[in-house]
Amino acid sequence: MTARAAFHSALDAARDWHAALPAMAAFTDWPDDLRYAARAPVSRPVLPLMERDPGHASPQSARLQAALLAAAPHAEWRLTYTEEEVGRDFLNRFAWFELAGPDGHFVTDQCRITVAYWGRNLFYARHWHEPEELYTVVSGSGIFMVDNQPDLILGPGDTRLHLSNQPHALRTQNDPILVLVIWRGAGLADDPRMVPEDAS
Ligand SMILES: [Fe+2]
Repeated sequence: MTARAAFHSALDAARDWHAALPAMAAFTDWPDDLRYAARAPVSRPVLPLMERDPGHASPQSARLQAALLAAAPHAEWRLTYTEEEVGRDFLNRFAWFELAGPDGHFVTDQCRITVAYWGRNLFYARHWHEPEELYTVVSGSGIFMVDNQPDLILGPGDTRLHLSNQPHALRTQNDPILVLVIWRGAGLADDPRMVPEDAS
C-alpha cells in the first residue's frame, strides 16, 4: 500500500471512529478542510514494538487499530521530549504522529488529530498545553491522571477530556496503549510541555 493510500484509509477509519464515539463527536466537528500533504516518514525505535504489541482492540476499534498500524511505517513519528526530560527507555518505547492538523499528514486549521503509543510500564509525567484535548483509547489500556480527580483506567473506546492548560499524566502497566487524540482551540501547532517539577 502506498503512503497516500495508507493515510487515506487511516483517516477514513478515524472519521468513522469520531462519528461512532459520542464524546468525540461532541468535542468537535470533523474538519472539512482536510488536504493530504506528502510528508517524509521518520522512523523511531518504538515502531517494531508497536507492531508486535499494539494492545488489545475492541470489535469497534479493530479497524482503526489496523489502519493506524498500516500507516505507521509511513508516518513522521515525533518524540517532543528530550532524554533529559523523560529518559532513554521512554524515548525507545513511545512516539506520536500528527494524522491531521497544522503540520499533519493531512493539513487542517480546525483541529489537531494525533496518534500516540506507549509500551508497557511507562510513566508519562504531568504535562500541559493550551488546546483542550480529548484522548480516545484505540487499543490497550492505561491509567489517566488529572489533578483533583480520580485516576481512571481506560481501555478501547474510552475517552478522557483535558482542559486548557490543565496538567495531566498517563501510566501504563501490563498493557501498552494506542490512542487517537484530538485538540481544539488556540495553540494547535504547539507541543505539550512537562510540568517542570515533575520532569526527571
Ligand atoms: Fe495532553
